[in-house]
Amino acid sequence: MITDNDPWIDFISKTAQCNLRQFVPSPPPEVREEINNCLITSPKIFSRPRDPDESSQLTNEHLGFAVTDSQQEYDFLWLGTALRNPTGKKEHLIINGILGAFGKEYAKQIRQYRSFKWTNATQHFPITTQYINDVLGNYFYLGFVRVMILLSGGKVLPHKDIPERRKSENEFSSYNILNSLHISVDQGEKYFFIHHNRIVPISRGDLWWMNNSKEHWAINFSSTPRTHLIVHAIPKKKLRGLILANKENNEFAKQCWPI
Ligand SMILES: [Fe+2]
Repeated sequence: MITDNDPWIDFISKTAQCNLRQFVPSPPPEVREEINNCLITSPKIFSRPRDPDESSQLTNEHLGFAVTDSQQEYDFLWLGTALRNPTGKKEHLIINGILGAFGKEYAKQIRQYRSFKWTNATQHFPITTQYINDVLGNYFYLGFVRVMILLSGGKVLPHKDIPERRKSENEFSSYNILNSLHISVDQGEKYFFIHHNRIVPISRGDLWWMNNSKEHWAINFSSTPRTHLIVHAIPKKKLRGLILANKENNEFAKQCWPI
């Protein structure tokens, strides 16, 4: 259980983004092959949410608050499939709203995460699912997991992932954020991810932890699709310890960006 005065709270409150690649293994090449094959052979596995109200209802029901992706009409050429979420349905893509917290709220979130289900998409991604469960699951309590594709020429416009009803809490406490990992499975040379006014130096195989209450957007000028795993996850004690033990280390500090 994390308490208010845990050094982890202090670290995470001051950090907008950091690359955890030196602590957590990257997806093996087989994950890239599996997802790229699926894009070619079974593109219908990937979808976009059609009805934002539907996802708001889900969020209300399962997590107690709603978020509507008002940007979605203006974004282009992104597709996704959910591998793990509260409903077990792969097309339920926008179920944001996992607040970081500590004390009792933290324990409650872990319980919520445990109630999440693997979706009907996982049968198409056995290698990817195994990586997430067996490798990432060693380091994180897993929540909402998606495979997100940004096709060539696609963009996601600037936005913040903040649940509307909790906006004030999120703006004033940087730990009250959506805990999110952006894992680059595949990307071309002209893919750009901008977060908190910085072009994130993201490379294939990186695992970037992001405070998604800060503005972020993405654009893919490459001729090939960008494939990310976006994983809402709470770091386990072992990973928190690794990060804290290395936070003064130059190599790791270079991979972090302050609030
Ligand atoms: Fe976002």
